Amino acid sequence: MMDTENHINWFRHTGPYIKAHRGRIFVVYLGNGALESPNLMTLLHDMALLHFLGVHLVLVHATREAIDSALPKDHPVVLKEGIRVTDDLTLAAACDAAAKQQVQIERLLSMGLPNTPLKAAQIRVMAGNFVTARPIGIRKGVHYLHSGTVRRIDVKGVQAILDNDAVALISPLGYSPAGELLSVSASDTAEAVAVAIGADKLIFLDRHAGLEDEDGNLIRQCTIASAKNLSVLDEEQRRLRDAACRACSQGVTRGHLLTFHRKGALLEELFTHDGAGTLIAQDPYEQARGAEIDDIASIMELIRPLEESGALVKRSRERLEEEIHHFSILERDGRVIACAALYPFAETGAGEIACVATHPDYRGAGRAKQLLNELILKASRLSLTEVFVLTTQSTHWFLEQGFELAAPKLLPIAKQQLYNWQRNSAILKRAV
Ligand SMILES: CC(C)(COP(=O)(O)OP(=O)(O)OC[C@H]1O[C@@H](n2cnc3c(N)ncnc32)[C@H](O)[C@@H]1OP(=O)(O)O)[C@@H](O)C(=O)NCCC(=O)NCCS
Repeated sequence: MMDTENHINWFRHTGPYIKAHRGRIFVVYLGNGALESPNLMTLLHDMALLHFLGVHLVLVHATREAIDSALPKDHPVVLKEGIRVTDDLTLAAACDAAAKQQVQIERLLSMGLPNTPLKAAQIRVMAGNFVTARPIGIRKGVHYLHSGTVRRIDVKGVQAILDNDAVALISPLGYSPAGELLSVSASDTAEAVAVAIGADKLIFLDRHAGLEDEDGNLIRQCTIASAKNLSVLDEEQRRLRDAACRACSQGVTRGHLLTFHRKGALLEELFTHDGAGTLIAQDPYEQARGAEIDDIASIMELIRPLEESGALVKRSRERLEEEIHHFSILERDGRVIACAALYPFAETGAGEIACVATHPDYRGAGRAKQLLNELILKASRLSLTEVFVLTTQSTHWFLEQGFELAAPKLLPIAKQQLYNWQRNSAILKRAV
């Protein structure tokens, strides 16, 4: 059981994520089997929570397995290149499956969420004819009958639902301008909606925990290029991986692949640093790493304005070159967007935290805190027992990170001699 302090701490850590997700559009694909999963209630409660935290949700539900089980046992299922040939009976089963699932999702999201902190909260769900499709027609001699591909998404229609503070629910059925009803792939639909509406995230929930490397280890985050290079054995997962990659190449900020089997996986993916499944992103995901000599130009670009404003002590290029191994950075699009350094004073068991900076465009999302935590870990690995910092403008930020004010005489002797009385920095320290 989490004690109150841990609970409050955990809650604080979610702050940057709550802030980052508010007002964003997430397209969530409920894969085959999700609606039969024992976790369905929890999953929908978690989605309700996202809705109340200000996330705009579009749900797309997969019906393939529901169609299979609705068809008579002796009905031939014809699949060519992973696409089903939809005959009249299959189309009727597709309509039934979509309608039943739609009603089930609407019912569960109307439940007033008993036994949860969101008790009696009401969520409006709206569905509609947002998918324009065209028949696949005849390919390599196979007539796909009522199977279609997505031609257009009614972006205004979906956006109007989201603007109305409702959840948009989309079934894998499309309508042709000629009045034909067509069965379309749910993952293609989710992808098309995410791209058309400019979603921030396309989240595929299916049976797999996420993508795995060749040793079977879960990959937490990867670029489109490395996701594409993975050999994925399961055909369904391969389809979802490809859809996530295509969506990310067309402007969706992040694709996520995770399981509906594990309780809380969705929230873990969205509100924790490590996540629960695989995150795919267009650009290399920001990662903290030790700085290298090639990073100096970019670090200088970041810290020069802060040196000029007096927030940071001036460092020459030569000094930076000598001290680069003390620096950790966060890189994005090949550019350093945050940095921080740890200078160990091994003989006294203390370390100085210095040059903590985040580019103004990227502040307020926990980046400096992330780097500070990495450096505190590094200090602990170096067997240091405390860290201190000298700052002129960010005293309160460090106080919030668990530092306390200290007197100059508490600094290591070597540092006391360098202490610049004119700069009159505040001195803060904290245990490692
Ligand atoms: C201080 C600094 C590194 C924080 O970077 P960041 O990546 O935005 O930090 P985090 O996201 O972890 O923390 C942001 C929170 O700290 C608060 N904060 C930022 N600077 C602060 C300051 N000087 N005093 C008090 N709080 C501050 C922000 O308001 C934000 O709180 P909020 O989310 O409640 O709005 C950044 O503002 C900076 O580069 N400042 C100039 C350089 C500097 O003074 N460095 C310290 C000397 S070593």
